[in-house]
Amino acid sequence: MNKEALKLLISPSDIASKVSELAKQILNDHGEEELILIGTLKGSFIFLADLVRALDKKDVFIDFVRVKSYGYSDTSSEEIVITKDIELPLEGKTVILVEDIVDTGLTVKFLLEHLKLHKPKIVKVCALIDKRERRKVDVPIEYVGFVVEKGFLVGYGLDYAEKYRHLPGVYEVIKS
Ligand code: IMP
Repeated sequence: MNKEALKLLISPSDIASKVSELAKQILNDHGEEELILIGTLKGSFIFLADLVRALDKKDVFIDFVRVKSYGYSDTSSEEIVITKDIELPLEGKTVILVEDIVDTGLTVKFLLEHLKLHKPKIVKVCALIDKRERRKVDVPIEYVGFVVEKGFLVGYGLDYAEKYRHLPGVYEVIKS
């Protein structure tokens, strides 16, 4: 049986400082506007919860979206479908898509196209982790927490087969 070990990559206190830094950047750019944060389920639920509290802003609203991707190994193509759509009206609003981790970039690309159909004033992406090695499409990430080259990461909302989401830090999975 395969066993995995976890190596701490980002400590809870480093995450906390980064989250308040990101909140400051967002307030600096959009502090005067009503904001809608859209978290991608399930991975971003802890990040979004901390970010929204760090923003400490009256006119901030929260929604979630969930997608499922199907990979086809024969063509290495991917199909992404929405399994839980946005419920708040976005027309004319300032929207921030809150992602746990951007890997190939396909999910963010798909979601940006989807969100634009709702005619927001602007959509920006805030990602806790920008993981570069497997990027297939260029996507704009205006607010980046940590840049990581590679590795499979868990904790702080991120899972490996639904495990480890509860961990307060981010860990790399080391398989043996
Ligand atoms: P992308 O479409 O390849 O950018 O993938 C984005 C999604 O894949 C994320 O929202 C995660 O759900 C998942 N994912 C990608 N890399 C990791 C990882 O290292 N750990 C956990 N989930 C990951």
